[in-house]
Amino acid sequence: MSQPQPQVQPKPEGVVSAPIPFIDLGAQRRRLGARVDAAILRVVDHGRYIMGPEVGQLEERLRDFCGARHAIACASGTDALLLGLMAEGIGRGDAVLVPSFTFASSAEVVALLGATPVFVDVLPETFNLDPAGIEAGVAAARAARLAPRAVMTVDLFGQPADYDAVEAVCAAHDLWLIADAAQSFGARYRDRPVGTIGRLATTSFFPAKPLGCYGDGGAVFTDDDAIAERLRSLRVHGKGSDKYDNVRIGINGRIDTLQAAVLIEKLAIFGDEIVARDAVAERYAEALGDLVTVPRVIDGATSVWAQYTVRVSADRDGVAARLKAAGVPTAIYYPKPLHQQTAYRDFPVAGNGLPVCAALSGEVLSLPMHPYLDAATQDWVIGALRGALDG
Ligand SMILES: Cc1ncc(COP(=O)(O)O)c(C=O)c1O
Repeated sequence: MSQPQPQVQPKPEGVVSAPIPFIDLGAQRRRLGARVDAAILRVVDHGRYIMGPEVGQLEERLRDFCGARHAIACASGTDALLLGLMAEGIGRGDAVLVPSFTFASSAEVVALLGATPVFVDVLPETFNLDPAGIEAGVAAARAARLAPRAVMTVDLFGQPADYDAVEAVCAAHDLWLIADAAQSFGARYRDRPVGTIGRLATTSFFPAKPLGCYGDGGAVFTDDDAIAERLRSLRVHGKGSDKYDNVRIGINGRIDTLQAAVLIEKLAIFGDEIVARDAVAERYAEALGDLVTVPRVIDGATSVWAQYTVRVSADRDGVAARLKAAGVPTAIYYPKPLHQQTAYRDFPVAGNGLPVCAALSGEVLSLPMHPYLDAATQDWVIGALRGALDG
């Protein structure tokens, strides 16, 4: 049988055709060639669509990649968070401290388990949880007669939170740490790879994430053998010796074998892609530092640049509209912090009313970012942003 050929046509070097893509998954397909197609066909041929051999292979490679003792692949980044909280028995009467400037999943899973998310502010330069807000979060939880149990950090836009500071406050208040690393898998914090930080860390393989599959997928990482065993049980309906032996309440949280097969191929080039992402970010920082507030990476940390998000202090929406007219797509992550969303506005908020989250949602603008953003296309984005800021 002849090898399948990818259907994506090559793009001529140095030629910019507007509108440019926000994320160019086609460029990655051109690089991977027929490898993903062949991996998918292998699954179709062996037919073990549920928990087939590729799931275990992926877990082994994820473990090798980040150094965690256990990687448990699952159906999405949201399920990864849910499974993590279930494995720790989080439920009614418990509070989990969550930054408000994040995607809904981070708080949604807490509320789904009957526990209460308590929203905490973030730092303006890194967009990540302000460790100084944890104490006020604990006080807000106690005032609401809740037991503060855990802190969920979110490594926003690809950069790890300031874990030394967060862990010190967690230890002082007897809180355990779950790291929502949906956007940061592949990054490091002071020699500690994401996946090894926190009692549990979770990630997402949503297609637009730095390591994405061709649908939904996620993973939970832990060094704790007992937690890992609970996670493996919980993702298959709380199974015991087999799936018809139910020893706890679980969910259907498995990753599809097809998605595992795709991820094995993508993980093989992920290290290179991280280097390329960083080069794109560095070029943006040099060209844009005098025009807008560019993101800062804290000392000793790296980012995988899930987003390259700048802050535009005046007329952000006008700037975005002018960029769109120039063929440059942008995105606003996030237009409203969670504590201001209809579904979440009745949950407790730490002390100060979260002014940083509120201010950021009016200023942030994410620019096209992916590992295949060539210099000509990036210059187009930079020139268009200069023009858009001039009005
Ligand atoms: C910070 C954060 N947490 C959780 C998730 C949930 O991941 P998924 O879409 O795979 O369920 C996402 C994904 O968008 C995210 O950005």
